[in-house]
Amino acid sequence: MKTIHFIVMTAAVAAVALAPQGCTAKEHDGEKQMNVTSKPFGTAPGGKQADIYTLTNDKGVEVKITNYGGIVTSLKVPDRNGDFSDVVLGYDTLDEYVKDNSPYFGALVGRYGNRIAGGTFTLEGKQYTLARNNGPNHLHGGNKGFDKVLWDAQPVRRPGTVGVKLTYLSRDGEEGYPGNLSCEVVYELTGENELKINYRAATDKTTVVNLTHHSYFNLAGHDSGDILSHELMINAGHYTPVDETLIPTGQIKTVDATPMDFRKPVAIGSRIDQVTGGYDHNYELDKAGGGLTLAARVREKSSGRVMEVWTTEPGIQFYSGNFLDGTQKGKGVVYEKYAGFCLETQHFPDSPNRPQFPSVVLKPSQEYSQTTVYKFACM
Ligand code: GLA
Repeated sequence: MKTIHFIVMTAAVAAVALAPQGCTAKEHDGEKQMNVTSKPFGTAPGGKQADIYTLTNDKGVEVKITNYGGIVTSLKVPDRNGDFSDVVLGYDTLDEYVKDNSPYFGALVGRYGNRIAGGTFTLEGKQYTLARNNGPNHLHGGNKGFDKVLWDAQPVRRPGTVGVKLTYLSRDGEEGYPGNLSCEVVYELTGENELKINYRAATDKTTVVNLTHHSYFNLAGHDSGDILSHELMINAGHYTPVDETLIPTGQIKTVDATPMDFRKPVAIGSRIDQVTGGYDHNYELDKAGGGLTLAARVREKSSGRVMEVWTTEPGIQFYSGNFLDGTQKGKGVVYEKYAGFCLETQHFPDSPNRPQFPSVVLKPSQEYSQTTVYKFACM
């Protein structure tokens, strides 16, 4: 296995327009400092200790991330009055993440985010068979995806940011995928109220890769009911329609005159009844090239909280929490249908079987990289 050196990329994540203005600071806010600490979070399957890292910034924003599954367990951001709420769904304990059949709350998803039809694909003339863990299809990396493994972790401190660097070697053949895949994911919290995620990966055999992040957000607070009144803008004129098992049909369709059109901000709930099963679709982002561009903006009126999503990826999965059904009890509350929404930046679902979609193939001579920023402000 060759050693892989990752280049720390800072330039591409520089210019993000929305300042954290509008969230009125409380008097004691001046005392807060950028910090990263860690403590044990419990014993992971396999017997090793999992840790939980707490990142805080000088505005009082706090993110908790465990190296079990790279899961963001809590994210506290201010509202327009300077009051903080936890805006992501999740659990209090490691045991619940392991045992409660978590629907990928806060998880780092890989080796392939979203679905691969029939759990099979052909690469360089060879057919690969993966777990069918979602009806007839493969979902989110299989039975034990990157959300269920223990990553190595170390704190990161750079001027203006604090973070945690996670690394994991996914062995050749793990979950059926070819190639030893060496992965590095850096979560960083900036003084500008941004949660930045930098993903890197390299392989020693041709493989497929599609990494993403699966937080369920509710900007009024994770325990505040449904997200149907959140106003959403998605910077996309096209989406990839799906069949009844949520596999893309291969078409790339305009959102024009359909309930899929979020080019202008509109309440998530305003047309959801016209979408069979609710929103669970990949959008083709309107962008030129692979730079960091605005993918989505969400606004929650009662709190004034706003979240922007910026990404280098070509697509974003908008999932409106349709499969939440009240069987998950996390952080003291039962999560009902639509309790949170996900905006998962990604390559398109089933790309290994769709040559017309942007390629997810990674060769030994290449490096996989993607950057996504979730930025919080108030209006
Ligand atoms: C993704 C998928 C959804 C669902 C969730 C997890 O967002 O697109 O269909 O599987 O993950 O429950």
